[in-house]
Amino acid sequence: MKISSEFVLLACLVAFCAVGVCQGGSLRKNFYRESCPAAEEIIRNATWKHVTTNHLLPAKLLRMHFHECFVRGCDGSILINSTASNTAEKDSIPNLSLSGFDVVEEIKAELEKKCPGIVSCADILSLAARDSVSFQFQKPMWEVLTGRRDGRVSLESEVFPNIPSPFHNFTVLMQFFQRKGLTVHDLVVLSGGHTIGIGHCNLFSNRLYNFTGKGDQDPSLNPAYAQFLKSKCRSLTDTTTTVEMDPNSSLNFDKNYFVILNQNMGMFQSDAALLTNKGARTIAMELTTQAKFFTEFAQSMKRMGNIGVVTGSSGEIRKKCGIIN
Ligand code: HEM
Ligand SMILES: *[C@@H]1O[C@H](CO)[C@@H](O)[C@H](O)[C@H]1NC(C)=O
Ligand SMILES: *[C@@H]1O[C@H](CO)[C@@H](O)[C@H](O)[C@H]1NC(C)=O
Ligand SMILES: *[C@@H]1O[C@H](CO)[C@@H](O)[C@H](O)[C@H]1NC(C)=O
Ligand SMILES: *[C@@H]1O[C@H](CO)[C@@H](O)[C@H](O)[C@H]1NC(C)=O
Ligand SMILES: *[C@@H]1O[C@H](CO)[C@@H](O)[C@H](O)[C@H]1NC(C)=O
Ligand SMILES: *[C@@H]1O[C@H](CO)[C@@H](O)[C@H](O)[C@H]1NC(C)=O
Repeated sequence: MKISSEFVLLACLVAFCAVGVCQGGSLRKNFYRESCPAAEEIIRNATWKHVTTNHLLPAKLLRMHFHECFVRGCDGSILINSTASNTAEKDSIPNLSLSGFDVVEEIKAELEKKCPGIVSCADILSLAARDSVSFQFQKPMWEVLTGRRDGRVSLESEVFPNIPSPFHNFTVLMQFFQRKGLTVHDLVVLSGGHTIGIGHCNLFSNRLYNFTGKGDQDPSLNPAYAQFLKSKCRSLTDTTTTVEMDPNSSLNFDKNYFVILNQNMGMFQSDAALLTNKGARTIAMELTTQAKFFTEFAQSMKRMGNIGVVTGSSGEIRKKCGIIN
């Protein structure tokens, strides 16, 4: 019957709108298809070119993307430089070893030549993080929806309350992720980002030398691994030495973080904390399978890339990622 089929159509539309599909404000696949068709390819090519000479770049951009999304949403605010009157996100304490800003800026300059004022810095960072990690596989490891716009605010004071600390316990980590609309499952899966990159000694050496203030070692840390870490980090005061988070595999994006985590070889207390909750421990066990890790990581990254995005006509498309227009 005509009326009932129209009703069904209307009901479907209402349902779609309710989940955000028909709102102008959501991200979509290949947002620049018409406005700048080569955008995603330009970003991929430039990112891959940089990775061939800088093997540390995937870790840098992946972490930058995480910090970006957890502070004010994925709105490019981490890329903004401080000014005389404002200390920006990138100049906060937890920025330790963040880098790769120059690469994002270079890609932006190239895009501004081809399609001025079209591609946001927030989308460039989301895509470049994905592409840098994907270089090893020569194919995209997760889907990145686009259409983010750039925010106009970046405050140093917003970093500390939003970026989880390597000293946080499970309860607190879970709260930080839940406040971003992410789940315990996302927390465990995304911690797998620590399969690449390095950590500074002072962020975990308390576990080696003075865990409870009695000159002791963290009993939850694998003793042989603690011995190895002590050979790298010689004292509590070492703030400069860095150690691979996934020993001997820190340039390789793989399931190995979960393999070593399950052997009590997570580097930070925040890594070890994932084993202190039964549900999280079960997830960490499941992720030791490569295919499972890749599938889950792809889904959680998509969710992380959606946090607090600025869309439609809000915000701006920055001309330079480091400077508000
Ligand atoms: C669960 C809460 C998290 C905490 C407490 C945490 C903490 C840290 C810390 C302290 C470092 C070392 C920084 C340094 O010493 O230079 C680090 C590095 C890193 N993190 Fe996380 N992180 C978390 C989640 C994530 C997530 C969700 C991702 C991405 C999906 C990620 C990706 C990375 C990467 C790739 C590095 C290596 C950076 C490099 O090599 O320069 N982390 N993280
Ligand atoms: C990207 O690189 C591929 C392979 O080198 C090349 O064929 C293609 O033309 C490049 N695309 C752009 C937009 O530069
Ligand atoms: C991190 O912040 C400090 C100031 O707290 C600043 O000197 C340093 O340049 C910042 N690092 C990066 C990578 O922006
Ligand atoms: C986790 O840390 C918070 C803040 O330091 C503390 O209040 C809480 O008691 C801790 N929870 C557990 C289970 O240790
Ligand atoms: C270990 O921690 C305790 C309590 O915080 C402190 O009094 C002591 O000086 C620390 N030891 C070292 C070697 O830093
Ligand atoms: C990493 O490789 C070195 C050299 O082959 C080896 O001595 C060390 O035990 C390895 N570390 C781990 C944690 O597997
Ligand atoms: C942002 O600051 C960095 C470090 O001071 C500088 O190299 C870069 O050129 C600045 N970016 C812009 C867009 O001015």
